[in-house]
Amino acid sequence: MLKEMADNDFIVSKTDLKGKITYCNKIFMKMAEYKEEELLGEPHNIIRHPDMPKAVFKYLWDTIPTKQEVFAFVVNRTKNDNHYWVFTNVTASVDNNGKIIGYYSVRRKPNPEALKVIIPLYKEMLRVEKSEGVEASFKVLTDILQEKGVGYDELIISLQK
Ligand SMILES: Cc1cc2nc3c(=O)[nH]c(=O)nc-3n(C[C@H](O)[C@H](O)[C@H](O)COP(=O)(O)O)c2cc1C
Repeated sequence: MLKEMADNDFIVSKTDLKGKITYCNKIFMKMAEYKEEELLGEPHNIIRHPDMPKAVFKYLWDTIPTKQEVFAFVVNRTKNDNHYWVFTNVTASVDNNGKIIGYYSVRRKPNPEALKVIIPLYKEMLRVEKSEGVEASFKVLTDILQEKGVGYDELIISLQK
């Protein structure tokens, strides 16, 4: 079953350097249908949905250690096999010396119009991933960016508006 975020809700989580959950807010638990003790210390892929192309997470993990923020549309799977879409922002958390000590993510309700673009895009990326691998799947995305003459952030942020 598809669950929807409320307009004013924010889903928040923090992870360690490896992506293990160190904090999540109440709305996270409500949407993901897990209790706090089932989430803390677990890898964030506990809510990974099989419809998500691997290339999106590769881009995420290639980018956040450079301290550049990442925006993405993500579908997550709940404990009871429901799913929900989010528009997410992921950033590095740094200490006073600028050293990365973990990562931080805030998600809000995605623009339904954006999902009309993202769902078929991810479907195609997943199809290509299965037959040709993750790099070819990423190329589906970069080809579209090139065709439109925009960067990744520009496309994703403009879709959410
Ligand atoms: C702060 C932060 C938040 C994340 N949030 C999610 C999330 O909501 N859903 C998700 O599937 N992956 C999320 N990830 C990515 C996961 O760490 C993981 O890369 C992804 O689920 C794919 O799983 P895999 O790397 O085992 O293939 C997040 C990572 C970080 C650093």
